Amino acid sequence: MSNSDKYAVFGNPIKQSKSPVIHAAFAEQCAQDMQYRAVRVELDAFERSVRNFFEGGGAGLNITVPFKQQAFALADECSQRAQRAGAVNTLYLTDEGQLYGDNTDGVGLVRDMVANLGWTLQGQRILVLGAGGAVRGVLEPLLREKPRSLTIVNRTAEKARELVAEFAELGAIDGGGYELLADRQFDLVVNATSASLSGEMPDLPGSLLTARSCCYDMVYGAEPTVFMRWAALNTAWAVADGLGMLVEQAAESFYRWRRVRPATGPVINQLRQALA
Ligand code: ATR
Repeated sequence: MSNSDKYAVFGNPIKQSKSPVIHAAFAEQCAQDMQYRAVRVELDAFERSVRNFFEGGGAGLNITVPFKQQAFALADECSQRAQRAGAVNTLYLTDEGQLYGDNTDGVGLVRDMVANLGWTLQGQRILVLGAGGAVRGVLEPLLREKPRSLTIVNRTAEKARELVAEFAELGAIDGGGYELLADRQFDLVVNATSASLSGEMPDLPGSLLTARSCCYDMVYGAEPTVFMRWAALNTAWAVADGLGMLVEQAAESFYRWRRVRPATGPVINQLRQALA
């Protein structure tokens, strides 16, 4: 048995997870002695599995679908962004032995858009599609970038309005149903619905893009999603998928655990090539 520090991602299903590949690449790049496994946790065994992992000397966990809210409930202490998200994707023990929860999804999205893609968020009109867990996780980091406005639209309009009420103190935010989009234009459109996963997309008027609009789908794959194809067809200035966000959220978790920041560009390229 190796003495290297033990990390894992807990989820169900987990086979599709790219986190082991990403963290192995970071560990090699930063010369960190660590191992990282993907673990499929039974739906009723999450809390027990987390406790066993840390009691057995585990150093840190990533948490993915469907356990992020349970991880939030389990943590003794959480970062402010995890509290806002109501969800945790990163767990570790503090020096005092407390179980600490963080959520790195939103900062991953913002870093990918700003640092990797060179997009500007400050002063921009942002549109977010969807109002599920994925949106809740990214609203605070997006609002911290000081956009001119942030609009959330959702098929179930009430859910968008609830998020607007909850995050209103953080910035200029509005939202509701898709009918809000008539006659409005946006500089940045983020698709955070799960529609792309089933090859669907919300019904969007092409008129909401300008020649300078950027479009981001939080989903990624070998092929552009329906939303990305729609964006290209409606002459968006730039279009991206969520692969960079995936690597950036992992990099932030890695930094929390190891206090070393890996270079993400080579790892994004590596994953992109493996997808092709
Ligand atoms: P996640 O954790 O990925 O956010 P979720 O909490 O199940 O998953 O949320 C899925 C989001 O995608 C919701 O905002 C959902 O809209 P509803 O709240 O109206 O269900 C949205 N969504 C899923 N399929 C969609 C579709 N075909 N068109 C528009 N929105 C869709």
